[in-house]
Amino acid sequence: MADKLLSRYKELRSQINFHNYRYHVLDAPIISDAEYDRLLNELKQIESARPEWITSDSPTQRAGAKLADRFEKIRHPKPILSLANAFGADDARAWFERVSKIDDRVEKTKFVVEPKIDGLSVVLHYRDGLFVQGATRGYEEVGEDITSNLKTIRAIPLRIPVEGLRLKVESQPSTLNLKPPQYLVVRGEAFIPIKEFDALNKKLEEAGEKTYLNPRNTAAGSLRQLDPVLTASRPLTLLVYQIVYSEGGEVPTSQWEILEYLKALGFPTTDIAKRFNDLESAIAYTETYNEGRDNLPYEADGMVIKIDDLNLANELGFVGKDPRGAIAYKFPAREVSTTLNDIGVAVGRTGVLTPYAMLEPVEIDGVVVERATLYNFDFIAEKDIRVGDRVLIKRAGEVIPYVIGPIVDARTGKEKSYQPPMKCPACEQAVEHFEGEVAWYCVNAACPAQLVRNIEHFVSRGAMDIVGLGIKIVEQLIAEGLVKDVADLFALKKEQLLGLEGFADKKAENLLAAIDQARGQSLNRVIIGLGIHGVGEVMAGDLSRAFGNLSALSKAGVDELQQIEGVGPNIAASLVDWFLQPANQKLLKKLKSAGVDPEGQLSVTSNQSGKLNGLTFVVTGTLEGFTRDGIKEFIESNGGKSIDSVSKKTSYLVLGENPGSKFEKAKSLGVKIINEDDLKKLVG
Ligand code: IVH
Repeated sequence: MADKLLSRYKELRSQINFHNYRYHVLDAPIISDAEYDRLLNELKQIESARPEWITSDSPTQRAGAKLADRFEKIRHPKPILSLANAFGADDARAWFERVSKIDDRVEKTKFVVEPKIDGLSVVLHYRDGLFVQGATRGYEEVGEDITSNLKTIRAIPLRIPVEGLRLKVESQPSTLNLKPPQYLVVRGEAFIPIKEFDALNKKLEEAGEKTYLNPRNTAAGSLRQLDPVLTASRPLTLLVYQIVYSEGGEVPTSQWEILEYLKALGFPTTDIAKRFNDLESAIAYTETYNEGRDNLPYEADGMVIKIDDLNLANELGFVGKDPRGAIAYKFPAREVSTTLNDIGVAVGRTGVLTPYAMLEPVEIDGVVVERATLYNFDFIAEKDIRVGDRVLIKRAGEVIPYVIGPIVDARTGKEKSYQPPMKCPACEQAVEHFEGEVAWYCVNAACPAQLVRNIEHFVSRGAMDIVGLGIKIVEQLIAEGLVKDVADLFALKKEQLLGLEGFADKKAENLLAAIDQARGQSLNRVIIGLGIHGVGEVMAGDLSRAFGNLSALSKAGVDELQQIEGVGPNIAASLVDWFLQPANQKLLKKLKSAGVDPEGQLSVTSNQSGKLNGLTFVVTGTLEGFTRDGIKEFIESNGGKSIDSVSKKTSYLVLGENPGSKFEKAKSLGVKIINEDDLKKLVG
């Protein structure tokens, strides 16, 4: 009996490790999250009955105990080096010339190009295959022991193979037959992927909590938490690229093979590394990422060009802490300094006041920047940002430029400290602060700045989706006194629109038709449109499923609301408060008489009578007639479920142009494959 339990226990551990690897390293899960949770729960149950079986590499041991006060210092087995920079192709060529003069073998060597991720360098130690210690890069040869925090990162293997490992290297006919070292120290970069970072911030924003500034700082802060449970809640991952040290075994001697070898041991490695026979091809490849860096799933500040032959690279030696054998080819800086001329304050839809920097115009990577966000008033105080300061600005990818902080050394003494406003800059009413939140609010429901934002939000794509009603028109409507709340939109007449600048027959008719169509929007979209503090897209879906119409929702009490997953006391209170406001009750009545009343009408996501009810769909590739969100909505509005990864239980894979790996997986699992026309036929 005990034997059977033990073998089940071992089987579960290896299964969970395998699925961890599929999910966090290969990014290709083959079971659902719920199935994974079931396996983990079964493992936990066995471990609570047989605690003597638990070892440090059990999948349950990823979030360990809290540290008392600080991290221990640990000495790295070898210095953790840095990289010299090259700013552009000519710099890279000059580097090549320099090192070729030192050793003419450089002329014939190959080069490996890897992304230079803007994260945190970490050092991982494995003894006899077991992950025993992990450290930050730290200073000189000493780092901080952050083992417990690193263990929470599921992409880090807690155990690697120690048996002989046969490794077939693509570019070589022979198979490397290496005995993994008893002691292996690897280095990698820990980071938070951009998508994960945005999702985390969106969740925090919806809950009215303080959002994080940028992926790098969040990753750094997360790894330096004394409580690993906090680290575990942040979407950290990593990629490894170097063997720092090894004992009692063999490791490859070329960078390309190191990457293949690390991958074969179960480490996550980059999938965009490439090897080239000459420097010019390496530069050309690097340049393609310079142009396309916004397509990378993480923040990268350049690419690293490395001499492939590591023996040669080592013999070349160092300049200070920079090895001669590699160079960081930096993308044009997206961080520049400029003068902070003044601080302005914008009023958002919910009345939240957001300070922004009015800057001396400056170019960042081809774009002139005059404004940057300052997040909130606490940020200005914490960073002691003063008007007149020289400030560091960053613009990366799609994000709004933001202020990193002041350059204190550049102060002249003429800079002025900043006091947050006591009055709303748009309506001059006193501002307010809510317990537990960082933001300051203008609570005047009639504030014109809020009305513009309110209407803009109500008509936006994610809410009522009224096409053709842009901010300029909203401003015109308000200025002419035609619209005083969102319900007034439904009472607009053609003659009124024709009286506005830029409106002719066709435009007025189109807009009125779009407004008319919005009367039939689903419950969850109407809820989103109301813009209740803390209620975002996901929450609106949950609320419409739970209540079915606005009248039931408006009568729900705090306790009833808290029965819904994800609704905490703050959101419940915010909802109750919103529906209690006489102005809002009036608005709901007005909307109802304008025909906006999704009463009894099922929300998009809860259509249980649809033709696709009970079926799950995965979409891959580009479709002709739908956007990604569009097809999801189509499936869900017909009662189906749209999910992201293929499993045996998937009913259909909807195949588009240039499909991804999901196509292969669906084929291998025997999932039915259809195109978008077939999908439309299913609905009829
Ligand atoms: S190689 C001798 N490769 O960039 C090895 N570094 O200034 C030196 N980094 O602190 C590092 N991605 O944190 C290397 N693929 C990569 C990297 C990488 C990011 C970081 C690393 C280092 C900094 C160099």
